[in-house]
Amino acid sequence: MTPTKSLPCGRGLTDGDEEIMKSTDSFNSTDSLKSIDLRSDTVTRPSAGMRAAMAAAEVGDDVMGDDPTVNALQDRAAALFNYGSALFVPSGTQSNLLALMTHCDRGDEFIAGQEAHLYKYETGGAAVLGSIQPQPIAHEEDGTLALGNILRAIKADDVHFSRTRLLALENTWQGRVLSLDYVASATALAHQKGLSTHLDGARVVHAATKLGISFPAAVHGFDSLSFCLSKGLGAPVGSLLCGTAEFIGRARRWRKMLGGGMRQAGILAAAGLYALDHNVQRLQEDHDNATRLASGLADITQITVQQPQTNMVYVQIPEPDCSDLGVFLRQRGIYAGIGPVTRLVTHMDVTTAHIDETIAAFKDFYSEAFSRKARRVNQVGPV
Ligand SMILES: Cc1ncc(COP(=O)(O)O)c(C=O)c1O
Repeated sequence: MTPTKSLPCGRGLTDGDEEIMKSTDSFNSTDSLKSIDLRSDTVTRPSAGMRAAMAAAEVGDDVMGDDPTVNALQDRAAALFNYGSALFVPSGTQSNLLALMTHCDRGDEFIAGQEAHLYKYETGGAAVLGSIQPQPIAHEEDGTLALGNILRAIKADDVHFSRTRLLALENTWQGRVLSLDYVASATALAHQKGLSTHLDGARVVHAATKLGISFPAAVHGFDSLSFCLSKGLGAPVGSLLCGTAEFIGRARRWRKMLGGGMRQAGILAAAGLYALDHNVQRLQEDHDNATRLASGLADITQITVQQPQTNMVYVQIPEPDCSDLGVFLRQRGIYAGIGPVTRLVTHMDVTTAHIDETIAAFKDFYSEAFSRKARRVNQVGPV
């Protein structure tokens, strides 16, 4: 149960840290089956039912457009979110990049949050591969980009400036949900100013679940949407880019250029269809588990817990405790990226019993830490 490397201490985790965690905290696969893994909702493993669906999938050559299972998934996604068309791609990163490259030409720019995944955590792909300039702006506490800041960031039509072409928002952002009113105002402002709108909705189904609204309502106002099957929905791989048929036709060319044209990809698409059929309705359980975790941890006076909105719990932990706490939790089979701002993520492989074990482990750590401190004070004795 010993990880090959220790978890980083000294920084908190955000939605983009799956990549960082992959390189900083690996453990062997048989041990991980027994563990409680709260690092991300990307760590889920395909269930037996999902694997059976993958094995049984009808396939064809998707680059030629004739994989029936990929086509079924794309049609399903487009209908689910009420877009004209959809494109199956290997990852959320590629889906966002295709959107940026399809909305923007070389030398154009897009507005996004300073902490947006598609700006901060996608290795600068838009700039490197698309010659597109990002214009990041600070998030407000609730994850929104203030309308005044968006307005100020839109550049005038002047030979000195890049052309501002796109507003990209993210929902959920760090587990927080953008309100429908905010989304309506921000997308209306963008459209008024001649910009297109894109939603990085890697976890938009979590947002819809939280708000209790339909999927089309959750993406209303966005010209394109990227959503992921591998984040909380249990699929091993896959995202969908949605938009008009014309937009998706252009994105398909970029996908081929970027090496994302897959052949008998129906095997993967079958996992996506299975995820949509079986793993969406249950998301409220993950949100409830996150709430249960936050409530349990809130009893510990040494740490500060933010009430979650969806499946991510953010906890402030005193820096000197981080390293010991990380080791303590791992000894109990609990994996989490412990830092001064720690993100704990619930998902389908985390049960309510796991949540209770995690709360107990945190409490034990802090009561043992308290006794250690008391022992040290007693050993020093009166002067
Ligand atoms: C909000 C958000 N968008 C996009 C991505 C990128 O997805 P992928 O890891 O499939 O490239 C992630 C990954 O965690 C994410 O959290």
